[in-house]
Amino acid sequence: MGRWFESITAHHTLMFSKSHLKKNFSEFLTFYKNRPIKNNQSGMKIDHCYALFTLLKKIKPKYVIESGVWKGQTTWLIKNVLKNSKIFSIDIDLSQRDLIYKNVKYLEKDITKHNWSKLDKNKTLIIFDDHVCFSKRLNFIKKNKFKHIIFDDNLPNHHISYYTPKMIVENQYLVKKEFIKYSNFFRLIKFIIRIIKKDFERNTKINFFNRYIKITYPIKNNKNLKKNFDSFKKKVQIYYEFPPITKFNYKKRFIKILTNFKEFVPKNYKVKRPIFSNSETHLPKELKSELNVQYSNICYIKLN
Ligand SMILES: C[S@@+](CC[C@H](N)C(=O)[O-])C[C@H]1O[C@@H](n2cnc3c(N)ncnc32)[C@H](O)[C@@H]1O
Repeated sequence: MGRWFESITAHHTLMFSKSHLKKNFSEFLTFYKNRPIKNNQSGMKIDHCYALFTLLKKIKPKYVIESGVWKGQTTWLIKNVLKNSKIFSIDIDLSQRDLIYKNVKYLEKDITKHNWSKLDKNKTLIIFDDHVCFSKRLNFIKKNKFKHIIFDDNLPNHHISYYTPKMIVENQYLVKKEFIKYSNFFRLIKFIIRIIKKDFERNTKINFFNRYIKITYPIKNNKNLKKNFDSFKKKVQIYYEFPPITKFNYKKRFIKILTNFKEFVPKNYKVKRPIFSNSETHLPKELKSELNVQYSNICYIKLN
């Protein structure tokens, strides 16, 4: 009973009232219209930038570690929202940057390869936007006693190939699928080599369709994984998914996968109610087109 209650309260943490999110939005829009990268393909767009903007203003961390820099749009956002914070921006490939700031400390390695012992963890926020499986971050977070985390691609099971905080708090075991188009020569060759080497585990399902191959890996739910997940969940004080700006549209969000891989079975899922109704938003065309296309339940986690 006690644990059930804990998980329910953790999932329903209310960090911002709807009226606050509505009011705050016009300040954000003025800010966002000045973004240096107008089309941040593969990076955060309007929904998640608004989430980050609002969360940073609330948490006010003294130190920010950003894992996943890409062109530098989120570095720009963090730097301009938190004028006095020390920023560490990490990417395994820093050559992709279009924006480089003198007073940001850049590191070209994985976050786990750096010594963070000097930072006060009560005043440090990590922003994970690096496409690394969250289960691979749990020991690092625990050992280093990090307490404030934002996780960007927080999709539910069946929609991403690695663990996210959402899957863990929802007690899910990852169903890992891979789609390989025959036209993707490089991936096709890799697949053939794996077949020749008998590299696939038992119970891996391989289906051949007209235009692509679908691989479904067996579910791994070993004791160690469960232990790590339980220990993480016990420490969760706040788990907050930031809502989308307008109503979540499953078809628009997953249009690519739904059209490219016809056998993909849509698994609609619950998303937080939007901040605005569609009739309430009067955005310019180029911003309207950014709505929804990337929304992935970006979340803030506060650990004990
Ligand atoms: C989605 S992009 C980041 C987008 C950026 N935050 C933005 O919104 O503009 C993901 C980035 O993660 C980087 N990446 C991949 N593995 C990484 C790792 N282990 N540590 C840090 N960055 C990594 C990639 O090189 C890529 O630049």
